[in-house]
Amino acid sequence: MKKIRKCLFPAAGYGTRFLPATKAMPKEMLPVMTKPLIQYGVEEAVDAGLDTMAIITGRGKRAIEDHFDISYELEHQIRGTSKEPLLAEIRALIDRCTFTYTRQIEMKGLGDAILKGEVLIGDEPFAVLLADDLCDNPAGDGVLKQMMKIFDKYRCSIVAVQEVPREETSKYGVIAGREIDEGIYMVDEMVEKPDPEEAPSNLAIIGRYILTPDIFDKIRKTEPGKGGEIQITDALMAQASAGMVIAYRFEGQRFDCGSIDGFVQAVNYFYDKNSDGCKV
Ligand code: G1P
Repeated sequence: MKKIRKCLFPAAGYGTRFLPATKAMPKEMLPVMTKPLIQYGVEEAVDAGLDTMAIITGRGKRAIEDHFDISYELEHQIRGTSKEPLLAEIRALIDRCTFTYTRQIEMKGLGDAILKGEVLIGDEPFAVLLADDLCDNPAGDGVLKQMMKIFDKYRCSIVAVQEVPREETSKYGVIAGREIDEGIYMVDEMVEKPDPEEAPSNLAIIGRYILTPDIFDKIRKTEPGKGGEIQITDALMAQASAGMVIAYRFEGQRFDCGSIDGFVQAVNYFYDKNSDGCKV
């Protein structure tokens, strides 16, 4: 099987929970300290050894493309000034990665968004990163890098999971499986956003996946599920039934930056982490 080089970023959603902030600005551009959410995601992917960022956008998302491009006027203006280092990090990312884009025309679910990425991914395994799940692991490898190591061993699709309170299962895809190694589960059940009484466990999928390319055919065969949308969870369940899917209880912190509470927690966390308060 080919090496993983590409990371898919589904970024077409409206971000209605942050209205009016997201009326004219993509939710992926909301800043935590001085960096937009999606930049943290790209940095995590680069740190995991990936060099091609495949971004699924939609209407009103052009700021994402502009962010990962050179701004000649701005760079010219601040060249030689004390502000110049502030652009160094993003410039390094732009120089190291290739960014590719396609649009999801209609919002038909995360599975559909990932299927739209097939044209950018092709026939190779790839990572998926949902930028509003902001992760950090100060003690070691980032979450995607941890998953890449597990992929090297198992060569199948992998979902990152964390334990959540029972009453929150209806916000997530939830798995059940057999723990075959510490924190590594062979998945035998996967349900999208189950009510707590129906959830097969409290292990919730968070926005990090490694997918083998046969997932695209599985998505094509997936009927609309929860909320009438094409769910990646259902396509992964088909993969698990036909072969093998691993769930991995990752090490580190995760903030649900798709919610106001999680977003504020992330801002506080990164503020505290960087005691000078202006750089992360
Ligand atoms: C999506 C997935 C869900 C997963 C979640 C992680 O849901 O459908 O299985 O648990 O991301 O953030 P969303 O939050 O987009 O509704």
